[in-house]
Amino acid sequence: MRITIDGPAGSGKSTVAKEVSKRLGIPYLNTGLVYRAFAYVCMQEGLEDERDILRLFERPPHVVPQVGETLVYYQGKEISPLLSSEDVGRVASIIASYPSFRERINEFFRSLMNHKQFVAEGRDAGSFIFPDADIKFFITASVEERAMRRYKQLKAQGIEITYEDVLRALVERDERDKNRPLYPFLPPKDAIVIDTTNLSVEEVVERVLSQLREYNRKL
Ligand code: DC
Repeated sequence: MRITIDGPAGSGKSTVAKEVSKRLGIPYLNTGLVYRAFAYVCMQEGLEDERDILRLFERPPHVVPQVGETLVYYQGKEISPLLSSEDVGRVASIIASYPSFRERINEFFRSLMNHKQFVAEGRDAGSFIFPDADIKFFITASVEERAMRRYKQLKAQGIEITYEDVLRALVERDERDKNRPLYPFLPPKDAIVIDTTNLSVEEVVERVLSQLREYNRKL
């Protein structure tokens, strides 16, 4: 089965997608992590020009979707643990606003997951990357709740930041992701929407799994 889980930053989509991948034993593709990997390489190599960034697809990061995690390597080194900072997220959001970059990365994702069963998670996994996925979810929560979750996550990683800074960065990122002219970030029309503001992770996972059971019963 090909499942997509989309949602804004801090909605809990990664946590839920990872858990669903583990329960079903199928690979997990974190598309945001791959955007971040390209952003990281741009930062390392000082690339800003859209054309130079596109040339990265000649030697892209090596992406390995596994059950419960997506691993990313660049020049033989695992870079997945280096990608969670706000700085990398900000650059990822900037390169994500280049239409030509999105087109290339979408092709990259499709060829990576060709003929496979998967849980793919991101901003547009169901709307633009895998429009013919079998079942699509859209997971969301209030902006304050999302900022609080992100803040706790960053704190737990030992990153020094205030809640207000996280909230500000999140609002800015939401705006940029929503207002880009091509491929704006919008819920897929045919997605099942889950608002997680007052739900635990387990409750959200249960809702997703019960929808999947329902889908399978109807096959
Ligand atoms: O989910 P995240 O914060 O790791 O994603 C980082 C950035 O990448 C986000 O600001 C927007 C972009 N992105 C995207 O535009 N489309 C995706 N499918 C995934 C991420």
